[in-house]
Amino acid sequence: MKVDILLGLQWGDEGKGKLVDALSPDYDVIARFQGGPNAGHSLEFNNIKHVLHLIPSGIFHSDKLNIIGNGVVIDPAVFKKEIDELKPYAADLTSRLVISSRANLILPTHRILDAAYEQQKGFTRIGSTLKGIGPAYTDKTGRNGLRVGDILNKDFKTLYMSHVERHLSLLRNFSYEFDLKEFEKGWFEGIDLLKEFRILNTEYLVNELCGSGKKVLAEGAQGTMLDVDFGSYPFVTSSNTISAGACTGLGISPRIIGEVFGIFKAYCTRVGSGPFPTELNDETGDALRNTGKEFGSTTGRPRRCGWLDLPALKYSIMINGTTQLFMTKADVMSGFKTIKVCTSYRIEGKEIKELPFGNDLHIEPVYTEMAGWNQDISAMHDYNKLPVELTGFIEFIEKYCGVPVTLVSVGPDREETIFRKQ
Ligand code: GDP
Ligand code: IMO
Ligand code: MG
Repeated sequence: MKVDILLGLQWGDEGKGKLVDALSPDYDVIARFQGGPNAGHSLEFNNIKHVLHLIPSGIFHSDKLNIIGNGVVIDPAVFKKEIDELKPYAADLTSRLVISSRANLILPTHRILDAAYEQQKGFTRIGSTLKGIGPAYTDKTGRNGLRVGDILNKDFKTLYMSHVERHLSLLRNFSYEFDLKEFEKGWFEGIDLLKEFRILNTEYLVNELCGSGKKVLAEGAQGTMLDVDFGSYPFVTSSNTISAGACTGLGISPRIIGEVFGIFKAYCTRVGSGPFPTELNDETGDALRNTGKEFGSTTGRPRRCGWLDLPALKYSIMINGTTQLFMTKADVMSGFKTIKVCTSYRIEGKEIKELPFGNDLHIEPVYTEMAGWNQDISAMHDYNKLPVELTGFIEFIEKYCGVPVTLVSVGPDREETIFRKQ
């Protein structure tokens, strides 16, 4: 059986949590492969909104196995908070959630380093979520990391202290004040809780499950435009958010990848710094933010909003080998008289469709304007009943990108999902 991947094609927050939850009934296993508590994946059912950071979004389905893969970085304190919040809603967590022994740990000092680096960068700061992601992945690739499997070592505390000492010596180079005890709150309790779960070399588990005919859905975090190699570097996260990341983050071969579901919003948002060619610093941007409730699920920061950027979307589709497109949040644009979609960039007088290398270029988006739709679409379940202006917009995107839109999400609830019959 193949592993399908569901991932974001823009700058994150495309609606991955909602759609992983909506698709979970079709799968046996849901596995996260990268990122960490920088992710905030929201899903809604029975009028309750849940936000997950580390736990895969299949957790509310009582017959599904959930795996946190080796590519994820885990903050034990966040893990504990999340498990405590989940307990009233999700049963048998210790039997349904398995954690890779190879996943790296985020230490309290990684969070301090994250904040110290950002403070030092000043105007050029990334806009990190300050969850310790960059420093934790730096230690991983620098071969200095502590991993989940290490917590079973009887000398773990001594190991931990040696890492803290190393970080504290780095922090002496910054004028950043901190109280280590404050940052350590909940961390050791989280370590104790992690020990109650199955800690395994999950690469064997995932491959065995596939081999025995189980269906696995790999859940991406962040989005392709935040990928450490292909995003707008350095304004990116520190992991490979793309489909290739599922191979390294779960220990699976590219030959067993099946569908690659790419999610995009009908417009664009970005939280944090970095280029955003179609950003709207006007009342249209404000309308998208307010109607779309575009405030970060992890940090609460207002998201920057703008029109759909097709050159960027097509680039993401190429990098991921996207086989199907899922569009979210078209309901947010209901009532807009006209909508715009960027089809190329004008840079120094030249019109191009490729994403440029530099971040300091002045990019002028070239737009196609279309009629909007004026109907509330959130209660619709039949693709063929959607307003013609919206289906025309979707056809325009499909033609530009060469990939079909097979799902349209029209609201945050798991029921507000239209599966399009091909
Ligand atoms: P993720 O990080 O990709 O899982 O996305 P987030 O959860 O951070 O942000 C997406 C936000 O949009 C959440 O508040 C979702 O509840 C909401 N959402 C998802 N799909 C839709 C949709 O189709 N329409 C509307 N109005 N909201 C949606
Ligand atoms: P989900 O999975 C949106 C952004 C941050 C910052 C940059 C680097 O919910 O889509 P980091 O903390 O990783 O060092 O931050 O990446 N960022 C996200 N933006 N959604 C996310 O995750 C994000 N995770 C990180 O705002 O600009
Ligand atoms: Mg999010």
